[in-house]
Amino acid sequence: MTNREIIEKTAAFVRSELKNAEGGHDWWHIERVWNNARTLARSEPADLFVVELAALLHDIADHKFTGGDESAGPAKARELLSGLGVEESVISHVEQIMTGVSFKGGNVVPGFYSPELGVVQDADRLDAIGAIGIARAFNYGGFRGREMHNPSIPPETGMSAEQYRRSTAPTINHFYEKLLLLKDRMNTETGRRMAEQRHRFMESYLEQFYREWSGG
Ligand code: ADP
Ligand code: NI
Repeated sequence: MTNREIIEKTAAFVRSELKNAEGGHDWWHIERVWNNARTLARSEPADLFVVELAALLHDIADHKFTGGDESAGPAKARELLSGLGVEESVISHVEQIMTGVSFKGGNVVPGFYSPELGVVQDADRLDAIGAIGIARAFNYGGFRGREMHNPSIPPETGMSAEQYRRSTAPTINHFYEKLLLLKDRMNTETGRRMAEQRHRFMESYLEQFYREWSGG
């Protein structure tokens, strides 16, 4: 099988796995991250085959939806890729990217790093900010039955991965707990530039949100 065929089969697998996913973590999220990743990889010393596979597979069996089980996604990816005859070094690299890509509150000490992880993580982070990021956050909050905003519950930035996962805070808090922190944590130069533009958009969105909240 050619690499292109492997990527197409992987895309078809992911699309069917995510059939019933929440709107912010569905196939369209994967497709956007896949596109972002291909764009970013152009100016990085990254293996495009690994980047594309990891971008496609990064959210299958997301720990947010499997009760915190971190090994479910990588195990599923391994099963698929070995069935497609992908070589071991590529499979284990994809697994390491899948494990390393998640934000988990931002207070987890990063372990593994590679240019391919940097690209996929930036691609995923870009989809968490800007107009799409705002839409995804409110969609996820709605899915979890959260309040949009509650002025008496302040944001918390020092959360552990476990606290972050269990948080039931209003969606506006998520901007301060994650979304507004991402632009300073980008791995690639292109990613950083794109993130800055999306970041400014979120800042003006929040300004308008508070103005309207208080009847302005
Ligand atoms: P990761 O999957 O990288 O660990 P998150 O757990 O923050 O990152 O989830 C990815 C996306 O899901 C976020 O960018 C956001 O759109 C949405 N999301 C996750 N947690 C929340 C939350 N508490 N409130 C609103 N949106 C959230
Ligand atoms: Ni993702």
